Amino acid sequence: MEKQRLIDAALDARSHSYCPYSDFAVGAALLTADGKIYTGANIESASYTPTVCAERVATFTAVHAGEREFAAIAIVGGKAGEAVSDFCPPCGVCRQVLAEFCEGDMPVLLYDGNEIRERTLAELLPDTFDKSQLKRGI
Ligand code: THU
Repeated sequence: MEKQRLIDAALDARSHSYCPYSDFAVGAALLTADGKIYTGANIESASYTPTVCAERVATFTAVHAGEREFAAIAIVGGKAGEAVSDFCPPCGVCRQVLAEFCEGDMPVLLYDGNEIRERTLAELLPDTFDKSQLKRGI
């Protein structure tokens, strides 16, 4: 998978963000092991805490569709209505959700409108608490 294509999918998804409270629009594109792309954007709530991040919308959509094997995720974010101009790393909750379904060596691609920054999920969430601690071989 060409990295820029996954980033372009995240940029496109970002245009579907519903973020009237933060005015910060995020898009994510999750690539499956067999080459499908599931996207998401952040969706906010007037009571704030029900807000869901773009990464979780993409991940839960994919998992709900039966996907379990993932190859990469691209994430972009910034002021709504403007082009992205800085990197948008995933929040801690989304890192934990990604760790539920993705291997530690999975690439996480960030984009500031100019350069791609690549990290592994394990770099973003070292010493992960995951299903292995619960001794469940799901
Ligand atoms: N947000 C995401 O969608 N993903 C992240 O990883 C960081 C934050 C959203 C949540 C909220 O709608 C807005 O960005 C500002 O925090």
